[in-house]
Amino acid sequence: MAIYLDTAATTSLDPKVLSVMSIALKKDYGNPSSIHKKGKEAKELLEKARKTIAKCINAFPEEIYFTSCGTEANNLALRGILATTKKKEIITSVIEHASILSLCQQLEKEGYKVHYIPVNKEGLLNLKELEGKVNFQTALVSIMYVNNESGTIQDIGRIAEICKKKNIPFHTDAIQAFKKIPLDVKKQNLTLVSLSAHKIYGPKGIAALYVKKGVLLKPLLYGGKQENTLRPGTENLPSVLGFAKAAELSFPVKELERKKKYFLQQLKQIPRIKVNGSGKNSVCTIINVSVHGVEGDTLVKHLSEEGIYLSTGSACQSQSIEPSHVLKAIGLSNQDAYASIRISLNKNITKREIDQTIKHLKSIVSILRKL
Ligand SMILES: Cc1ncc(COP(=O)(O)O)c(C=O)c1O
Repeated sequence: MAIYLDTAATTSLDPKVLSVMSIALKKDYGNPSSIHKKGKEAKELLEKARKTIAKCINAFPEEIYFTSCGTEANNLALRGILATTKKKEIITSVIEHASILSLCQQLEKEGYKVHYIPVNKEGLLNLKELEGKVNFQTALVSIMYVNNESGTIQDIGRIAEICKKKNIPFHTDAIQAFKKIPLDVKKQNLTLVSLSAHKIYGPKGIAALYVKKGVLLKPLLYGGKQENTLRPGTENLPSVLGFAKAAELSFPVKELERKKKYFLQQLKQIPRIKVNGSGKNSVCTIINVSVHGVEGDTLVKHLSEEGIYLSTGSACQSQSIEPSHVLKAIGLSNQDAYASIRISLNKNITKREIDQTIKHLKSIVSILRKL
């Protein structure tokens, strides 16, 4: 049996999600914009799903806009705001996901000034520096809630406070955070939040952007009047319903915290292994370690042959030969960055599977170190 430890890349479908989706794929094929009964039924289901997702983050249903993926939600948040203002500066961090960083690089080419805030060894942002960069030209601040490689959790409440004081929209990419740590758009003063279904046992190809009531965005695409004209295109109802089901299911955070602790303890059996990121401010699903003297890629390939699936970092960057920008940002040498693996726990992982992973890891590391 496979041991899947790459849930930060994507998750399997929860059986309950699959069941909702297969019914919808067969039965709920109506277009929510059609005015006949089949269309109206589809529209009702769509709005119910919107309500479910809104409730999970304490938002109003009309503040949730479905998109085709988290990447689109992030692009829409940034470009959507920038298109409504003459302000030309953006504040983000050096550790964002490629869907923010490569967009920011493009925005720089288009004449925007982007401030990339550095992080410390734990992967936590220097908030003093962030506050110092805020000025009358700041169009928006975009900082991720949980990093997809290190698992580090940022103090987004504090960042939101800084933004609120200066009346600047604050976007957070909460794709790795959703369901795993508290997310309350009202309590945390959030303006824009990206969510994605396929990190929480929902389907791929569906995500959402929360946009606070009263905040105006311009669309990326032009077309019909779907999603209040912010995101035209016929809605992907079966996936939306799968997303809502995944969001509604409970997530075993406490159990995962215990399992992560156990995993970290067992990893100590392997000599010269170093945990990357923050011990304290870290999400329950992600462990990142550098295994000295071994290449992460080689480890991943050998473990894959044993039916154990993990990664060296972000799946989006797997084609890159550069060391991880996140690990470099937290001060790792190239050697330690290349020696890193990311273990992202699935919600059903057992103690036996953890023990088995450690056993194989130990043996492969020992063989590779001798070579
Ligand atoms: C933090 C973060 N942001 C954005 C994305 C992109 O989401 P999607 O794969 O839905 O486009 C991912 C997923 O890889 C992610 O982990």
